[in-house]
Amino acid sequence: SSKVTARYYTAQAAFYSDDESADIDWDNLGFHLMQTDFMYVTKSSEDGTFRQGQLNRYGNIQLSPSAGVLNYGQGLFEGIKAYRREDGRIFLFRPHQNAIRMQFGAERMCMASPTTDQFVDAVKQTALANKRWIPPPGKGSLYIRPLLIGSGPILGLAPAPEYTFLVYACPVGNYFKQGTAPLNLYVEEDVHRASRGGAGGVKSITNYAPVLKAMKNAKEKGYSDVLYLDAVNKKYIEEVSSCNIFLVKGNVVSTPIAKGTILEGVTRKSIMEIALDLGYKVEERSIEADELITADEVFCTGTAVGVAPVGSITYKGQRIEYKISSDLTCKQFYSRLVGIQRGVIADERDWIVEI
Ligand code: COI
Repeated sequence: SSKVTARYYTAQAAFYSDDESADIDWDNLGFHLMQTDFMYVTKSSEDGTFRQGQLNRYGNIQLSPSAGVLNYGQGLFEGIKAYRREDGRIFLFRPHQNAIRMQFGAERMCMASPTTDQFVDAVKQTALANKRWIPPPGKGSLYIRPLLIGSGPILGLAPAPEYTFLVYACPVGNYFKQGTAPLNLYVEEDVHRASRGGAGGVKSITNYAPVLKAMKNAKEKGYSDVLYLDAVNKKYIEEVSSCNIFLVKGNVVSTPIAKGTILEGVTRKSIMEIALDLGYKVEERSIEADELITADEVFCTGTAVGVAPVGSITYKGQRIEYKISSDLTCKQFYSRLVGIQRGVIADERDWIVEI
């Protein structure tokens, strides 16, 4: 019916009928790459605006060996989920927030960026073109990954002369291998994720490879993930490799304040609003790792991760355990979030975008 839908049909009709479902095991999705049918691609023009993009079959892309992204890490990514409801309708969660965050990141990394409309349109087209990969309700979601990369060739250190905006998608379930079991976090004291004035506050690809080693070491020791400390004082908690963190103490919900070293997650922001709605006091502030021991509850948030309760945190050799029960505060927050996404709780803030 919409223009987007019409365009999607011309691209997709040759391959799949509208109601054909992908032949995969929807009960055991996890968070693993699976090739889907189409990806959206567009490139910047000389004036820094992006051309009208198109859906191509999912596949490898060609890049110059001297592309800015390959040599100097000029790249940003995003993560957005599309959900299927019982009645078959498809919804995105707050895609405009991701569009704005990409523009903010592009400004920091000296890159051209798509407009909000171009971004959201590309995400919609990608979701619709890969509709048969959107899991049935309750089984997971379609994780949509927009990428903005310096694709133009450059030798000396400078912004790339051309940018590629690409969107692909993959069906996903639980992010962590252990499913929905509480996370066991390890507080890393030597490796830092970000520093003031750096790029920790934007979703730069350069924020992620530097944590792999600490993450791998922690996983080898049986931890789910790593919690990083601030690089200056080495005592304030910042974030986990792939998600934000919250503490609950009584009716106060706290999360580390974002001063350029923390990625301002869309789920983080949404959970803060939900907590306020449910009568909690919400604070963004500096939180010392020493405070972890006094929390009633700790949980992580992220698009990929969702809302994940933390069962233990190991800091300076001491393992802090948190009580896990069915009436955890974070579970209340998560059911409200999921309720809004599934359409059973009123979406008063227009977080949900039907496609
Ligand atoms: C997301 O939650 O969408 C992310 O981008 C985190 C990523 C490391 C999987």
